[in-house]
Amino acid sequence: IETPYPENEPILDYAPGTEARRKLKEALKEMAGKRVEIPLVIGGERITTGDMGQVVMPHDHNHVLAEYHKASEREARLAIEAALEARKTWQSMRWEERCAIFLKAAELLARKYRYLINAGSMLSTSKNAFQAEIDAACELIDFLRFNVHFAERIYREQPRSAPGIWNYLQHRPLEGFVLAVTPFNFTAIAGNLPSAPAIMGNTVVWKPASSCVYTPHLFMQILEEAGLPAGVINFLPGPGRLVGDVCLKDPNLAGVHFTGSTAVFQQMWRTIGEHIATYKSYPRIVGETGGKDFVVVHQDADVDQVVTALVRGAFEYQGQKCSAVSRAYIPQSLWKHIRSGLERELTSLPVGPPQDFRNFVNAVIDRQAFTSITGFIDQARQDSTSEIIIGGGSNDRTGYFIEPTVIVTKDPQSRTMVEEIFGPVLTIYVYEDDAYLETLEICDKTSRYALTGAVFSRSRAAISLALAKLEQAAGNFYINDKPTGAVVGQQPFGGGRASGTNDKAGFYTNLLRWVSPRTVKETF
Ligand code: ALA
Repeated sequence: IETPYPENEPILDYAPGTEARRKLKEALKEMAGKRVEIPLVIGGERITTGDMGQVVMPHDHNHVLAEYHKASEREARLAIEAALEARKTWQSMRWEERCAIFLKAAELLARKYRYLINAGSMLSTSKNAFQAEIDAACELIDFLRFNVHFAERIYREQPRSAPGIWNYLQHRPLEGFVLAVTPFNFTAIAGNLPSAPAIMGNTVVWKPASSCVYTPHLFMQILEEAGLPAGVINFLPGPGRLVGDVCLKDPNLAGVHFTGSTAVFQQMWRTIGEHIATYKSYPRIVGETGGKDFVVVHQDADVDQVVTALVRGAFEYQGQKCSAVSRAYIPQSLWKHIRSGLERELTSLPVGPPQDFRNFVNAVIDRQAFTSITGFIDQARQDSTSEIIIGGGSNDRTGYFIEPTVIVTKDPQSRTMVEEIFGPVLTIYVYEDDAYLETLEICDKTSRYALTGAVFSRSRAAISLALAKLEQAAGNFYINDKPTGAVVGQQPFGGGRASGTNDKAGFYTNLLRWVSPRTVKETF
């Protein structure tokens, strides 16, 4: 079925002197100046529990941006009930009307709330203006518009009929509720995970990460303003155990839409396995988890291109993207140039709070992340096969700041070369130029995760070899570009192995997981 693709939302420029910068600064000031109270939203009602959590700016321990009410088991049960109740009318609403609500939410984001949600993302998750804009504004808007586009294609695509026979598919939503569990690092992903199943007629219980409640709450309000009926998405901040103890054990669980850690996803899968005989239908489990994303450089690569890709791919948003470059394989003959390029670029990268627009690197999300990332750096310091050649410093006096750090290792299986760090740390293994094939094999062998990866080369033979040898090592594979920044509708996103179920966010393959089609044959 041919329906035209939507346009991707253009990225606003926040350069000095622009109207966009002025408006974003106003929003930052307004938001930083007040302390918001965030309730649960269940069946359209604001619910307060009095059990409070805080949204503290990662770059400023003294600044509490909001306090949020935490759900207990009771509210988790209420949220499930509300979702099941809302399902009765939501599933029978015409799909065009459901889609209209999400398209309206996209317009509200683009035109009315863009600066507010970007400011919220900058302050609550420590993103610079560009990182906020490409995520909380553009990518979230794109997810909504592209999901609607693919929903339309799915609903219109019908099987063949014949004289005297009419065949058609009814794309029924799943029977039960969908649980969305969302991460801290992308407001776009947080917004997409409940929205995609809802567009397809499901109702949702949404448990946001405790380190990212602020912008999800804003988005929840935008959905309501766009006309989302009560109970279709139920907003349930609170402890992670609500998921395992209540939501996953409910016999009405019909699906899980998850982005987060591999360990949590595997635990969820185990819990579902233990209860498999109790569900009405087999729950659809869709998850995107960890990554240990690679760059492999061939000796004929363009050095400047490689340096830019490493700097941006590894250190934008402090390396806290599941797609971030975390290990690189560099040929000996290019190493001197690449090393000096990295030293030049990284030692001059300004680190600090995002309200100062000059800062490229901001804080990592919280104490736990800070401790874990600096632990990896300390371990590398003691490892005789590794050397920290850039950065390595950290400072948590006012916020959780970690310098962009580059480690060189002689051991391609060293800890920082194979384990997920989720922070501003890049480990490099320098290989002999004639060992390109072996290097590709090592890269594949050490890819327990398989989310993103990139190869840099000017020759087709080297590119072809990388495509073949790394076939299963990345769900998103980039040739001569950094492996971050997938654009919705252009590079459908997701990976395999321990990185997830690879259903491709923002693409029709993902939406198909949220329907259970009924085939109807009528004869005349
Ligand atoms: N979709 C995000 C990226 O590609 C995670 O960077």
